[in-house]
Amino acid sequence: MKLLISNIKTLVQVDTEARKWVAGTDMAKLNCIDDAYLLIEGERITDFGKMEDIPDFDEKEGFDCVEEYDATGRMVFPSFCDSHTHLVYAGSREIEYSDKIKGLSYEEIAKRGGGILNSAKLMHEATEEELYESALERIQEIIGLGTGAVEIKSGYGLTLADELKMLRVIKRLKKTTPLTIKASFLGAHAVPAEYKGRQAEYVDMVINEMIPMVAAEDLADYIDVFCDKGFFTVEETDRILNAGMKHGMRAKIHANELDYSGGIQVGVKYNALSVDHLEFVGDAEIEALKGSETMPTVLPGAAFFLNMVCSPVRKMMNAGLPVALASDFNPGSSPSGNMKFIMSLACINYKMLPQEAINATTLNSAYAMGVEDELGSIAKGKIANVYITKEIPSIEYMPYAYGSNLIDVVILRGKVL
Ligand code: NIG
Ligand code: FE
Repeated sequence: MKLLISNIKTLVQVDTEARKWVAGTDMAKLNCIDDAYLLIEGERITDFGKMEDIPDFDEKEGFDCVEEYDATGRMVFPSFCDSHTHLVYAGSREIEYSDKIKGLSYEEIAKRGGGILNSAKLMHEATEEELYESALERIQEIIGLGTGAVEIKSGYGLTLADELKMLRVIKRLKKTTPLTIKASFLGAHAVPAEYKGRQAEYVDMVINEMIPMVAAEDLADYIDVFCDKGFFTVEETDRILNAGMKHGMRAKIHANELDYSGGIQVGVKYNALSVDHLEFVGDAEIEALKGSETMPTVLPGAAFFLNMVCSPVRKMMNAGLPVALASDFNPGSSPSGNMKFIMSLACINYKMLPQEAINATTLNSAYAMGVEDELGSIAKGKIANVYITKEIPSIEYMPYAYGSNLIDVVILRGKVL
């Protein structure tokens, strides 16, 4: 069966060069085709172009085999790739929300046993089935919001059994949902209460017990560490990344959210796929990223929610670097997976142009989760994960109308949902 989307007002993020990412000043450029068609066969995109060049399917193959969708007045975008989330979690943390409003910092909340440790307690009490059901609801929500691929981290378990429980839920979601999902093992997300004052022993446990078991069950694509002030040091991160990589997991880390942590440099040292957060980035960090294969990834939802300084995105782009954006969907610092809103935050708070924000949430974020060959742009042979908008006047209207749901039809793996 073929699906033909015709009369598309604008087909956005068209790629004919198989680019792995866009960087620097190119981020402001977006390849688009006005008055376009898009042809999907099975799960894949097989053709696209101007309406005036549309092949005559009626004559060529008989109209029966082509289902046509008339997108007059509407645009077609590649689905968002959300390269950093923690969307498998138990409960919620709105009590901390009030604490934050009253003025407590993220670190102060963490020190009082709130924060990640609060989620770890709830995670311990939840069954695998409960976790799966609640994560599935979040997945369904983000599908409706235009996301077609998502990376999900563990890290609310903090014991071998609970980390495996989280990762098994992610593995099940990979099989049961139409999204492309990648899993990251984040055992080093926080030091659990039982190991208070014995951080080195916890790190040893992550390395010697958790990583081998995660690898044996093939539960994670990537190895992650929260390398930041008050969490894990550069030396600990170095050891954990090294161990994860020996077990076939590429690094993808949390870095420089709370301070100049050295996390970016250690990430680049291990050829991390991405280093994420990046509120604290100076010249040394930019130099480390230049010429590397590591995608700087910014999480505007967490910075907004925690009211933090903004990552110097313009400085990174001016230095010729690429930038990706992700939601960081999690109960503590970013309780939303709405990537369209992430674009709006990026435009207003980081002064990114709408075109830059679109590149950062599609092709660049696809790279940041290792799926750029399959997703992130409209290209022949890529998986047909796209959405059709409602009638909108321009591309810029997407981040501009920040509270409106402008997504009308979602197509994942060639299927209209
Ligand atoms: O990416 N920065 C560290 N980890 C998460 C927050 C997790 C939480 O507070 O529950 C993040 O923001
Ligand atoms: Fe995170």
